Amino acid sequence: MYKIGLIPGDGIGPEITREAMKVVGAAAEKTNFQYETVEYDFGGDRYLETGEILPDSALNEFRQMDAIFLGAIGHPDVQPGILEKGILLRTRFELDLYINLRPVKLYPGVWTPIKDKGPEDIDFVIVRENTEGLYVGGGGFLKQGTPDEVAIQELIATRKGTERCIRYAFELARKRDKAKKLTSCDKANVLTYAHDLWRRVFEEVAVEYPDIETEFAFVDATTMWMVKNPEWFDVIVTCNMFGDIITDLGAMIQGGMGVAASGNLHPGSMAMFEPIHGSAPRYTNKNQINPIAAIFAAGMMLEYLGETEAAGLVDGAASDLLGSKKLRDLAAGKMGYTTTQVGDMIADSVST
Ligand code: IPM
Ligand code: MN
Repeated sequence: MYKIGLIPGDGIGPEITREAMKVVGAAAEKTNFQYETVEYDFGGDRYLETGEILPDSALNEFRQMDAIFLGAIGHPDVQPGILEKGILLRTRFELDLYINLRPVKLYPGVWTPIKDKGPEDIDFVIVRENTEGLYVGGGGFLKQGTPDEVAIQELIATRKGTERCIRYAFELARKRDKAKKLTSCDKANVLTYAHDLWRRVFEEVAVEYPDIETEFAFVDATTMWMVKNPEWFDVIVTCNMFGDIITDLGAMIQGGMGVAASGNLHPGSMAMFEPIHGSAPRYTNKNQINPIAAIFAAGMMLEYLGETEAAGLVDGAASDLLGSKKLRDLAAGKMGYTTTQVGDMIADSVST
């Protein structure tokens, strides 16, 4: 019996979470596993009503869960950063979810803005370090608000944090068994401390994986190649900040935010899954948003839980729907179907 925590969140979060869980329900029935969900109403509305963002008690409950599913966080009436830092980043940090796993896969039937590239060319995984770097929130202001103001934002990189992330990426390249290639995306030519450590650790760990081909790419060049030659990549490992940026680019080349999913993992203990897109407040309760990214995230969650058959059914059903080209467009309001209908079609196809 799995225990899954749900944080539907803000904007369209609840709608897509509902469809994702509908599909999980269908998969559970089909492949015979049991789960229960605990729902949390954290997000902008609760914050505006009560001032509460994420109580410590909830974090402690999260620790007892097998997985967490998060819809979307971000509210137009709340200053940017409060909810993102207070809910999403806090959960990543306090539960030590040190891997942010973001597959970049172009499914058959999905349009990519990259000319002459197809599903065989765009199929790689970005492993983003998720607990360090520029995201730690260290730093401060001096002489704030004066002409002499100084702002300091610290980049923290530890050997332990670097190594566990890079090691995970090597293991993944081996497990994928595709090109067996790992690209380190960094900026060692400028970040001569943090990314010097990164490259030294990468080379140390690489010795243990003689079957994996390795390569270094600076982050600026990486963005160029992701567009020009995406077929070169198998697994990319990168730091928190660069991972944030290049995974939005990754989402675009795989067909957009309507399909991009991610997992925040502490391998072996806990994980949180979410679509990469935001809360799209203007589509709230319109039943027009595309739930497929959330459904793919639910598929990743099932895979993580060890429900491989169920995960395969979910991924296959969503991929079949995309391949059928029934949906006119993947953007909100342009699908030709409602959010509920898309969830129903995928859930039905999982059931049959
Ligand atoms: C993401 C998001 C978050 C991040 C924001 C909302 C804090 O952009 O998951 O990529 O920067 O990690
Ligand atoms: Mn991002």
